Amino acid sequence: MANTTLDKWIFPKGFAWGAATAAYQIEGGWNIDGKGPSVWDTFTHKGGDRVFKNQTGDVACNSYALWEKDLKCIKQLGLTHYRFSLSWARLLPDGTTSFINQKGVDYYNKVINDLRSNHVEPMVTLYHLDLPQALEDRGGWRSEKIVDSFDKYAKFCFRTFGDRVKLWLTINEPYIVSRLGYEDGILPPEVKEQGVALYQVAHNMIKAHARVWHSYDTLFRKEQSGLVSIVLYSGWAEPFNPNSVDDKAASERYLEFMLGWFANPVFLDGDYPAVMKSRIQNLSKSQGLSSSRLPEFTEDEKRMIKGTADFFALNYYTTRKVSYEESTCFGPSFLGDQATKESTDSSWPVMEPFWLAVVPWGIRKLLKYIKDKYNAPAIYITENGFGQKDPSPLEDVQRWSYYRQTLTEVYKAISEDHVDVQGYFAWSLLDNFEWTFGYDVRFGLFHVDYENPDLPRTSYKSAKEYAKVIKNNGLIGPDQFGVSA
Ligand code: NOJ
Repeated sequence: MANTTLDKWIFPKGFAWGAATAAYQIEGGWNIDGKGPSVWDTFTHKGGDRVFKNQTGDVACNSYALWEKDLKCIKQLGLTHYRFSLSWARLLPDGTTSFINQKGVDYYNKVINDLRSNHVEPMVTLYHLDLPQALEDRGGWRSEKIVDSFDKYAKFCFRTFGDRVKLWLTINEPYIVSRLGYEDGILPPEVKEQGVALYQVAHNMIKAHARVWHSYDTLFRKEQSGLVSIVLYSGWAEPFNPNSVDDKAASERYLEFMLGWFANPVFLDGDYPAVMKSRIQNLSKSQGLSSSRLPEFTEDEKRMIKGTADFFALNYYTTRKVSYEESTCFGPSFLGDQATKESTDSSWPVMEPFWLAVVPWGIRKLLKYIKDKYNAPAIYITENGFGQKDPSPLEDVQRWSYYRQTLTEVYKAISEDHVDVQGYFAWSLLDNFEWTFGYDVRFGLFHVDYENPDLPRTSYKSAKEYAKVIKNNGLIGPDQFGVSA
């Protein structure tokens, strides 16, 4: 609801104000200075309209060569934190520590050192969708061997950069990688074994994350005193019919299959949500299978996984209305397992990409839900933002208004619901390669002119307004664009 009397939203002292990026989406330099190929290089080079106009991340914003330009943007905003990811294949071209690419180490050392000397805290993601192709060739996330490879890579990163990096994120959005890469088959490695592969992949991701957290905890924490978490994607879900018991249960189930799938093991009891276990078990049986399609954790594994996050890292973009719907197909599928149908409300504005219905109050509800369900963890909103279709106006008034509304909802979550939100990261610092949407969707606070070989970065209005928010540690005064918060 609009808060018409209050015109000052000052955030807690020390609140982290950030922006985020990811290696494949900004770096370019896909094959230079010894970098190995990742699954995204392979995928985009196949063409075949997998990506809008067959675009690739070969050059992207060329941040590998133009880091100084990015740093300028970061300073212009006055960010306290900058979230970026390491390209695993730039550091370890074949994914293993048998060969270390010093040029890659030098690049990230420079980024980290420059950030720190400008009093910007780095928050570093180890894996943001770009698995080294060499590891994919050996089974990738479907093989349990990945747990060991990821742990070795992570230990190498902690050893190399951990003296200066205190905020670590293991895996970005395991839900999206499993769902779109192994169920829908639209992201690499384009597997479409419905109702099966995504659960195996997620299982290995959870184990890999937990192993890495333990490695940090036992080998590095004492000396480096940093924090480690996993980035979870979740929307908010409202029952389609608020008076329907079935729709209420469906929206709860929707959250369990999206967020609880990962958050329950890590933050609660080391295991999947009960509703996932029972539904998938029963459906597997009725599909003639001798065991559940959802793998089981052993008791030792549960103990190992439980409690392996030092804070809650949340990516929030959108909200859905959810109703109860049993699948009419007999075969296994993630949607059939969930028995839900999602839709949006016609009053919710839609930004780019098409899935991004703007629902600022959804973030407040989700934050409260996380507080209540996951024992009031410290939360960083590691991503939130709105895309615009190319060509996008530098005067992005509407978009800033959505940012502003979202920030007021975060403020209310902190001040009225007492949720321990410690930071907010806008996605993204720069316009960049938006996966299958290529350069057609622009999420940046800074515009990138891809037609110009110098790839100049120019601030959108949102960047200027966000800089004021950071300077004031909050929002001051009514929305001058006339959109009520
Ligand atoms: C979340 C992902 O982490 C990021 O890579 C992507 O660009 C944004 N969502 C926007 O879709």
